[in-house]
Amino acid sequence: MFLPLQIVSLCLAVLTLVGSSYGSCTPQCKLVHGSPASVGLLAKPLHQAVANITAYTKPANYSDASYNEIHPVEPGSANIVGHCSTIVAEWADGKRNLYADVNGTLLPPGQQEDATIDTIYDMASLTKLFTTVAALQQIDAGTLDLYATVASYLPRFAVHAKENITILMLLTHTSGFDADPEPPLYYPVYKTYQQRVNAILTQKILNPPGSKFLYSDLNFMTLFLVLEKITGKKLDELVAAYTEPLGMKSTFFNRGNLYPPEFPKQSYNRMATQEYQIAVLGPKEPQRPQPVRGTVHDENAYSLNCVSGHAGLFSTVSDTAIFCQMILNNGTYDGRRYLSQEAVDMIFHNYNKRFQDDSHGLGFELNQYYTAGPMAGKRTASHTGYTGTTLVIDRPSNTFFLHFANRVHPSREWSSNNIVREALGYWVAKSLGRDVEFPES
Ligand SMILES: *[C@@H]1O[C@H](CO)[C@@H](O)[C@H](O)[C@H]1NC(C)=O
Ligand SMILES: *[C@@H]1O[C@H](CO)[C@@H](O)[C@H](O)[C@H]1NC(C)=O
Ligand SMILES: *[C@@H]1O[C@H](CO)[C@@H](O)[C@H](O)[C@H]1NC(C)=O
Ligand SMILES: *[C@@H]1O[C@H](CO)[C@@H](O)[C@H](O)[C@H]1NC(C)=O
Ligand SMILES: *[C@@H]1O[C@H](CO)[C@@H](O)[C@H](O)[C@H]1NC(C)=O
Repeated sequence: MFLPLQIVSLCLAVLTLVGSSYGSCTPQCKLVHGSPASVGLLAKPLHQAVANITAYTKPANYSDASYNEIHPVEPGSANIVGHCSTIVAEWADGKRNLYADVNGTLLPPGQQEDATIDTIYDMASLTKLFTTVAALQQIDAGTLDLYATVASYLPRFAVHAKENITILMLLTHTSGFDADPEPPLYYPVYKTYQQRVNAILTQKILNPPGSKFLYSDLNFMTLFLVLEKITGKKLDELVAAYTEPLGMKSTFFNRGNLYPPEFPKQSYNRMATQEYQIAVLGPKEPQRPQPVRGTVHDENAYSLNCVSGHAGLFSTVSDTAIFCQMILNNGTYDGRRYLSQEAVDMIFHNYNKRFQDDSHGLGFELNQYYTAGPMAGKRTASHTGYTGTTLVIDRPSNTFFLHFANRVHPSREWSSNNIVREALGYWVAKSLGRDVEFPES
C-alpha cells in the first residue's frame, strides 16, 4: 500500500504547483484540460488544425489519398492532443454514419449522425498496443520472458521450423510470418473456434525467424494465445483488468459479436459505422448485417468472437488519452502503477536497428512519418489501425495525439487517410513552435 499512497500525494502536490505557472511542463499524474498557453504551446496552429483536418471530410480529388476519385478522405473523426498531462485540443468533425450504400449514396439527413468526441471507434490494429501492455504486465510479473520461445509456452507451436521464434520476435514483427493467415480464419474450412486457434498455432513461416521485418497479424494472434495460456484468463479480461481501474469506461471487446438488445443499445448508438464489406469484397466475407457497425471490422478477429490480440478492441479518444498518459507517466496514472519504468522503456527502445526503416519498440512502431508526420522521431511511438485510427506518443516532448476515423465507411477502397494523420502531426509540431513543412500528399 505504501507505493500507491506515495504517488497519490505526489500527484496532489504537483497538481497544485502546475495550475498557475505559464509555460511550465511539470508532469502531472492525471490528465486535466487546459489551454495550449498554460503548458507553453501556441494556440493558433491547434485552431488551424480543426479547420484543416475537417477539410478532408469534404469530397474532392485528393490524388492518391482518395485513389484519384472525388471522395472525402474520411467521413469524420475524433481527435485529441495532449501535452504535459494536459488536453490542449479535442474535437470531432464530420459524420460517424453517412452513407446508405457502398457507392456513397448519402443517408437522408435525419439518419446521418455527427461524429462526437465520445464516438466509439473500431480500433483495429491499435488493439495490438493494448495486447502489448497486457504482455508487458506479464513481463513485469515475471511470468513472461521476452527472450523465451513461443513454443516454451505453447508446445503445439513447435512445428514448421518455428521452434526458435521468441516473444520478442512477435512483438517486433520479426518472427518470419507472412502478413495474414492462409486461408483466412473466417473461411468455411474452419467450423469451430478451436479449429481457428489450431490454424494460428500451425501456420507456416515465410522467412527464417529474426531475419526480416514483416508486419503480421499472426504475431499478435499468437501472442494473445500465449497470454491466455500463462494467465488462465481471456484477453478481454486481461485488458479490462487495467483499462477499468484507469477509468476507461468505453473501451471493450464485443465478445461474441453481439448486437442490441444483447449488446447495450446506448453504446451501439455511439459506434462509428464502418464498411459495406460484402458489397466491396464479395460473398466470402463474414455474413452479417451491412454496413458493419458494432461488430469488429477485421474479418479474422470477427471469426475469433471479436477477441484477438491483433484487432477487436473498441474505444474513444478520451479513453485512449488516459492510456497514452499512463505511458508518458512511465507506467503510473492517478496514484496507481500499471507498468514498471523498465517496461515502458521497452516501448521506446528500438529492437529493430538492423532493419533501417522499420524501427520498432515492443508492440509500438518508432519514428514513422506516415503516422506522425513531422512529429516522427526516434522516441516517437505510434501505430495505425486499418479502419482509420492513429495513436502517437512522443516521449521527448511529453506529447500525445489521437486521430480516430472510420475511413472504411463506405468502402476500404475509397481512401488512405495517412495524409490526415501526417497533417495532425504537422499542426502539433507547429503548436510546439517547430519550423516544419506541411506533408506532401
Ligand atoms: C491543410 O493545410 C495545408 C497547409 O496549410 C494545406 O496545404 C492543405 O491544402 C490543407 N488541406 C485541405 C484539405 O484543405
Ligand atoms: C484526380 O487527380 C489526378 C491527378 O492528381 C488525375 O490523374 C485524376 O484523373 C483525377 N481524377 C478525377 C476523377 O478527376
Ligand atoms: C454501385 O455501383 C456499381 C457500379 O456502378 C453498381 O454495379 C452497383 O450495383 C452499385 N451498388 C449499389 C448498392 O448501388
Ligand atoms: C534453433 O536453434 C538451434 C540453436 O541455435 C539450432 O540448432 C536449430 O537448428 C534451430 N532450429 C530451427 C528450426 O531453426
Ligand atoms: C519517463 O522516463 C523518461 C526516460 O527515463 C524520462 O525522460 C521522463 O522524464 C520520465 N517521465 C516521467 C513523468 O517521469
